[in-house]
Amino acid sequence: MRYSKEFFDLQIRFAQTVAALIDIPIEKALLDYTNIYVRFALGRAFDQHHPIWRCYTDGLRKSVDLCDWTYRFYLARTEVPKTQSKLATVGCFSYAMQDARCVRIHFENIEPATTSPLGIDRLPVRLAELRSLFDHMRHNHQEATCVAGTSWLYNLRAYQRCVPDGYVASAKVAESRFRNMPLWGQFLDRHGAVRVGAAEYFMQQLSYAADFQDLVCGFPLQALAVEAPIEQFYCFYAV
Ligand SMILES: CC(C)(COP(=O)(O)OP(=O)(O)OC[C@H]1O[C@@H](n2cnc3c(N)ncnc32)[C@H](O)[C@@H]1OP(=O)(O)O)[C@@H](O)C(=O)NCCC(=O)NCCS
Repeated sequence: MRYSKEFFDLQIRFAQTVAALIDIPIEKALLDYTNIYVRFALGRAFDQHHPIWRCYTDGLRKSVDLCDWTYRFYLARTEVPKTQSKLATVGCFSYAMQDARCVRIHFENIEPATTSPLGIDRLPVRLAELRSLFDHMRHNHQEATCVAGTSWLYNLRAYQRCVPDGYVASAKVAESRFRNMPLWGQFLDRHGAVRVGAAEYFMQQLSYAADFQDLVCGFPLQALAVEAPIEQFYCFYAV
């Protein structure tokens, strides 16, 4: 999925506001408070000395338009293969082992642009994908005892209905996810464009922010961390 320029502009605006409010350099704010490092396919070490990141920040200092430079840099990186820790993928879902006992579930839209992957008409397909994924786990990772996830998506009924109630009920706000899609993904629609209403609300909140906590609260939805025993999933999908 190629993300729109507005998605980057939104994050840069957030980084600029953070930099001004807590008095840090813009390079640091972009590294610590946006998903841009990950979008450049640099992994998750968030190393300010990474040569590609250095190339980006050097360019920032020389560029007249920070947003334009960032997006051009992103477009030049879109063909770079991403490192994968996924053990299996079925449709929109995949999983990886967080540690020896805990499985993490990931969601990525793979539907054609005309279809909402979370729409009610696609629910049977999503449930069939998850059933197949958990069947794979049951056969290949018998040591797994729990399932965990973190995402803004757990706020949505359209996503909650895909997973067991006990998993959703365990939700707790996951703080400091500024570098991650589980927070920033809420501003995207299925085409990779920015959701106008959510972005406008967010920008308005940024303009009112008097301190860092106001910035945190400016996100329309928070990332939620969930966890439940894997048996609940085997039972829910009848595998
Ligand atoms: C998930 C995603 C595909 C939804 O986009 P979409 O299909 O264009 O969304 P739609 O407008 O068709 O909405 C589908 C449902 O989700 C709800 N929804 C979607 N995004 C929402 C948001 N940001 N805030 C509130 N509700 C939202 C809609 O209200 C709708 O619910 P309903 O069927 O109960 O009415 C899109 O946000 C996306 O690809 N995000 C990036 C991926 C991501 O966040 N990954 C993180 C994984 S941790």
